Amino acid sequence: MKKIKKAVLPVAGFGTRFLPATKAIPKEMLPIIDKPLIEYAVEEAVDAGIEEIIFITSHTKVAIENHFDSNFELEEKLDKNNKRQYIPLINPDKFKNIRFTYVRQKSQKGLGDAVAHASHLINDEPFAILLADDLIISDKSCLQQLSEVYYENNTSVIGVNRVEKEKYSKYGVIEPNTVGKNLFIQNIVEKPSPDKAPSDLAVVGRYIFDSIIFDYLEQVKEDKSNEIQLTDAIQLMLQIIRYLHVNIMVISLIVAANLVM
Ligand code: UTP
Repeated sequence: MKKIKKAVLPVAGFGTRFLPATKAIPKEMLPIIDKPLIEYAVEEAVDAGIEEIIFITSHTKVAIENHFDSNFELEEKLDKNNKRQYIPLINPDKFKNIRFTYVRQKSQKGLGDAVAHASHLINDEPFAILLADDLIISDKSCLQQLSEVYYENNTSVIGVNRVEKEKYSKYGVIEPNTVGKNLFIQNIVEKPSPDKAPSDLAVVGRYIFDSIIFDYLEQVKEDKSNEIQLTDAIQLMLQIIRYLHVNIMVISLIVAANLVM
């Protein structure tokens, strides 16, 4: 079975719901305790064995590139001023062997379009997608949980979480189907009203796909807001591949942009 070595992190969105905080600072660079939001997602990916992080970015997100680059001048100053203990914080050992790749999404045409920008970097191999604005705290990380399902079953897998009725309209909610001990998706309904939701299981921003998803993304048409939706590609995929695994994430806390708004 092929190893999951690459993760795509789409970060090109406008972050409108966080204005004015995101007027000059990318949403992903907002600090959570002592680190920017994006670093938690990158750590989650690296801890799950990812070797290459592919950011889908935009011209307003240069701070993200700088954050994961070396800053020799600062390191030299810290060294000279006897503040060496800060160096591992700005240049963590964990990231030393990780390749960071950046692809610009010139016009913000939706999450599906952002993911499609990574197609030339993904060969015939499985890859992860992490939406950094879903910051998920759990004993075993979400990506680790999904990877285990992938390696056990050799299929694409999507993370879902139980949400309360009043939050259904913020998520893609799945219609589940159980076969044996496994849970599969039958359908996804995007942002349903509470009476139309097929379950209480909402998609969280963690996915593992095979490169076949790019074929479906190519077929997706723009929606009413001129965006290409990843959900629409998943729906197309479901018509062909009946067994798309779902894993109900074991989560202790979600600090999600989509939840707090
Ligand atoms: P969101 O739906 O949360 O959109 O995108 P957003 O633009 O970040 O925030 P709002 O709606 O303006 O407040 C989900 C993820 O997809 C990325 C975002 O950066 C976020 O990680 N995205 C979205 C892109 O990379 N490109 C897009 O065109 C749209």
